[in-house]
Amino acid sequence: MSRTLIKDALHATAPMDAILLQGWVRTRRDAKAFSFIELNDGSCLKGIQVIADASLPDYAHITKANTGASLEVRGKLVESKGQGQKWEVVAETFTVIGEADATYPLQKKGHTLEFLREIAHLRPRSNLFGAVFRVRSRLAYAIHQFFQAKGFCYVHTPIITASDCEGAGELFRVSTLDPLNPPKTEQGAIDYTKDFFGKQAYLTVSGQLEAEIFATALSNVYTFGPTFRAENSNTSRHASEFWMIEPEIAFCDLAGNMDLAEEFVKYLIRDAKEHCAGDLDFFSKFVDKDLLARLDFVLERPFQRCSYTEAIEILGRSGKTWEHPVAWGDNLQSEHERFLAEEHFKCPVTVYNYPRTLKPFYMRVNADGKTVTAMDLLVPGIGEIIGGSQREERLDVLIENMRAHHLSEKEYWWYTDLRRYGTVPHSGFGLGFERMLMFVTGVANIRDVIPFARTPGTAEF
Ligand code: 4AD
Ligand code: MG
Repeated sequence: MSRTLIKDALHATAPMDAILLQGWVRTRRDAKAFSFIELNDGSCLKGIQVIADASLPDYAHITKANTGASLEVRGKLVESKGQGQKWEVVAETFTVIGEADATYPLQKKGHTLEFLREIAHLRPRSNLFGAVFRVRSRLAYAIHQFFQAKGFCYVHTPIITASDCEGAGELFRVSTLDPLNPPKTEQGAIDYTKDFFGKQAYLTVSGQLEAEIFATALSNVYTFGPTFRAENSNTSRHASEFWMIEPEIAFCDLAGNMDLAEEFVKYLIRDAKEHCAGDLDFFSKFVDKDLLARLDFVLERPFQRCSYTEAIEILGRSGKTWEHPVAWGDNLQSEHERFLAEEHFKCPVTVYNYPRTLKPFYMRVNADGKTVTAMDLLVPGIGEIIGGSQREERLDVLIENMRAHHLSEKEYWWYTDLRRYGTVPHSGFGLGFERMLMFVTGVANIRDVIPFARTPGTAEF
């Protein structure tokens, strides 16, 4: 007999004479003549109730079926007389496969998220984290569906790279040199020509530059992979390792880019509502009461669009006292981004045309010479979830930009070649996968939407 997943058992349309379930005990309640076991196998939020009659030959082992133990049950699927469930299983045989004693940390009582982070190897067995990681899996699938249905090609950009796409210097070095005795140049500096790759190498902060190579050949492409930032920000929205989705579209301007970003975000929300309804219900009950209403609200109306210059005016007129006062030319801080999305527009808003000095070298310079075609999508509760731009396709302007950012034309010869041979207007963006998951689940800390968070000072598991 093959195993039935609890998700399928709970959705059965008729009783079953023989069923095999395997999972982990969530709770057990003993009465005189029988025991009730709530069994969960992670296939869905809900567990199934198993009834073990005291007359069963194995019944003496029931005391080993403690919270956390793994269990195999054979029996019948019958209509439940109890409340809150349609089906339950009457056990005929059961086997405790792996015992768990009273030291098992996930006993019934609620635990703090901080505590659960310390047991990241066990937290997927809790309701909350089972739900989070099912949604994560589903949305990873939906991302591919969205782009594949549109004919985008999935490109695997390298994880080890020699370039700093964002130019922020937040790079993790990849090196095999002996840290105690590195080779030195005559001037006494570390000689990276002797390093593994013959030059300085890093973990990528973004696959964009390589995605541009493929967009200028295959037209519409996307990446979806891990990215790394050695940025020392200990916030609820920053991780040192996170996943990013980066579409890159040839023959596309900033407006087309904004349209795609909006369609993409809405698609993912709709997909989660359709395929993870039970998990989203759980989040709306136990994590964020406004979640479902907010997701519907976001789906129902167009995202707002506002230039950076307008945004600065709105912030100035707001009458708010900012922790970081803001004037034209300053970076928007989280408090500003959240004010725009949460209080002013009360909906997702795309801020575009940022000052040239704030943004990386690859963004297209506008006719005013002062701003670039950047766009950031800001959402209530989080702030920025997408950053993107139209790319500079004019060779002379690009080279001027690279000089302004102190980038070596020699190192980026392949990037400038894309403008030398058959250049086209093109655009793209990066969606932070974990930030999107925070938005869809209402979970407030990025550490709780990634299986094993890497943040400054933490790389356990
Ligand atoms: O705005 P960013 O830095 O843009 C880029 O990397 C571009 N190369 C993307 C592109 O145009 N192809 O990052 C994009 C998104 C951010 O909006 C945010 O959602 C997420 O990546 N992100 C982070 N997520 C978690 N932790 C961090 N430290 C993040 N840094 C950026
Ligand atoms: Mg950004």
